[in-house]
Amino acid sequence: MPIVKPRPSRPGLPAPRKRAGPSRPVTAFDEAYYRRFYLDSDTRVRSGQAEERLARFVFGYLGHLGIPVRRALDLGCGLGRWRGILARHHPRADYTGVEISPYLCEKYGWLRSSAADFKGRGRYDLVLCQSVFQYLGDEEARNAVANLARLCRGAVYLEIITKRDWELHCNRKMTDGKIYLRDAAWYRKLLAPHFRSAGGGIFLPKDSPVVLYDLEGG
Ligand SMILES: C[S@@+](CC[C@H](N)C(=O)[O-])C[C@H]1O[C@@H](n2cnc3c(N)ncnc32)[C@H](O)[C@@H]1O
Repeated sequence: MPIVKPRPSRPGLPAPRKRAGPSRPVTAFDEAYYRRFYLDSDTRVRSGQAEERLARFVFGYLGHLGIPVRRALDLGCGLGRWRGILARHHPRADYTGVEISPYLCEKYGWLRSSAADFKGRGRYDLVLCQSVFQYLGDEEARNAVANLARLCRGAVYLEIITKRDWELHCNRKMTDGKIYLRDAAWYRKLLAPHFRSAGGGIFLPKDSPVVLYDLEGG
């Protein structure tokens, strides 16, 4: 989300308040939250153009790697922006949106569950988890990574605000501050037993047959 340096055009990530405690930040994922960070053009953190650029990258890269996209799972899907994007890039693909917010589940019909324990139906070609982990406590984040590994057969797209992102790159006015700030190393250690980084926020399951050249991975 809003990252203003070094590329001012990069979309922002909602802005963090430093938290050390083990409990979930008391964010109400209600109508006001989504209006402020996603819908109001004066306060929202990401433009439609930025979303489209990201989508072109993700689907272009998966195409390049030869990963088909027939079933996509969006954990913490928010307003479900990836649903429309997926329909444009892969019109026949199936989209499943999962949310913890009762407000969104009622409004959009998403499945109500935590990313940490959503069971799903089989495995998915693409699992999206964008700007969600920073809202999870340590234990929930560990369980969510294990769950990603269980649910994904093709690739995961992950976007997470880290401590360094917050200190160096986030637009603090426009980014939600009620989040957990952790080092990238903390996340890498959790991901390493299950995934290889393919760069650009894309992670491949350890048993993926996709060949990455030496310098392509993260
Ligand atoms: C910053 S928004 C991102 C929404 C969407 N992924 C996007 O990028 O547009 C964070 C979302 O994560 C959801 N969320 C927070 N904790 C969650 C959890 N444990 N499981 C699933 N969703 C969660 C919130 O309800 C909120 O909609």
